[in-house]
Amino acid sequence: MARGEFNSRIGTFAAVAGSVVGLGNLWRFPYLAGENGGFAFLLVYVCVSLLVSLPVMLSEFSIGRSQQCNAMRAFRRIAPGPWYLIGFLGVVTAYVIDSFYMVVGGWSLEFLRASIMDEFSGKSSEEIKSYFDAFLAGGTGPVLQALTSLGIATVVVFFGVSKGIERFNKLLMPSLFVLLLILVYNSLFCLPKSSEGIEFLFKPDFEKIEFHTVLTAMGQSFFSLSLGMGAMLTYGSYIRPDRNLTKTALGIVGFDSMVAILSGMVIFPAVFSFGIEPTQGPTLLFNTMPNIFQQMTGGHAFSILFFLLVYFAAVTSQVSLLEVVVAFASEEFRIARWKVTLGVGLTMALTGTMCALSQAEGGLFVINGTPLFDLFDSMSSNYMLPIGGFFIVLFAGWIMPSRVLRSQLTNNVDEKRPIYYIVLRFLMRYVSPAFVAIMFLNLVGFI
Ligand code: PHE
Repeated sequence: MARGEFNSRIGTFAAVAGSVVGLGNLWRFPYLAGENGGFAFLLVYVCVSLLVSLPVMLSEFSIGRSQQCNAMRAFRRIAPGPWYLIGFLGVVTAYVIDSFYMVVGGWSLEFLRASIMDEFSGKSSEEIKSYFDAFLAGGTGPVLQALTSLGIATVVVFFGVSKGIERFNKLLMPSLFVLLLILVYNSLFCLPKSSEGIEFLFKPDFEKIEFHTVLTAMGQSFFSLSLGMGAMLTYGSYIRPDRNLTKTALGIVGFDSMVAILSGMVIFPAVFSFGIEPTQGPTLLFNTMPNIFQQMTGGHAFSILFFLLVYFAAVTSQVSLLEVVVAFASEEFRIARWKVTLGVGLTMALTGTMCALSQAEGGLFVINGTPLFDLFDSMSSNYMLPIGGFFIVLFAGWIMPSRVLRSQLTNNVDEKRPIYYIVLRFLMRYVSPAFVAIMFLNLVGFI
């Protein structure tokens, strides 16, 4: 069966960027930065992204591209024994994440719809909050929107790697960036207290940097860069042999941080200008932003642009999660890709519906008091991603033949071992696994 690949360099970058840029950048990063020392957190974030996450990303790219197959088979081909289980864990993780991520994708669609219909007009912050609570409690709305979001992602994956995924991202990522720049411009130059917001984001407060902050930055960087679950491995397997993986990964890490910072520059000036508590957490995006737009000149248009941006970010990440599972199932069970896409889409529709309903009234799919949605969320970020990431980087550094790793990282252009390769390999063998292990032990409460 012919495998797809990303045709152009721009398309490759757009597809990978589509996966990494998501709600992690738009919502979680600004909020964490705000709480953990602003610019100081940013510095820590960039350092851990380069020292810990970049090696993991390159490990995934190298494993995927050298084997040109899905996550599980790639491990099996490189090494005998139980290593393939890491790949399998990745596929399961992608499935689990997508099941609740599609629900959040659905929320952004709902807010986009409500913005277009101007339904927030004249509503206070409290009223918007009760609107959202009622929407969640109702059950039907969240399920329908989540299914719509999944449906769109499924259609994209259905059309294949280059005609579907690459083309979709080539359209959406530049649009996302333009939307983001328009919103940044508005926040910086058209809002009364933009400087306070910028100060909140950029003023370094080094006293807030502690051991715990470093771990927070690391967890965030991992999630934001879609690491530890085979998304980068699967996308890596579609990158053509002549593309430079090291440059691509560096570009992606830079782009991901840039989008996160820009999104902080959209949110905080708005938050300060309208007298809202900046460290609000999860509710910031869905409760506070619509209210802020109410008070802003041209707010109706900006709220549509904003939720369009959020949706673009969410759906392109969803596509990558779905692709991990589809690539696995179609190659392992030798079933035509389009059939598998439909099958996986339908199964995901079921688990996604369960996640959406777990937050509704009636207590369906609540396990020991924890809604399935939250369970999937914490299970994946606290356990599955760090475990996956740890073994992936360990595998690339110690198990995968160094000849293969080197040819992937250097594209065989240098005769001798170039210095950047030596540095990267050192990071892969020692630094990155050590940090990821500490992060995991901390997450599970050992340290
Ligand atoms: N990176 C995405 C974000 O920042 C989330 C994601 C995680 C997507 C894992 C794919 C795989 O929101």
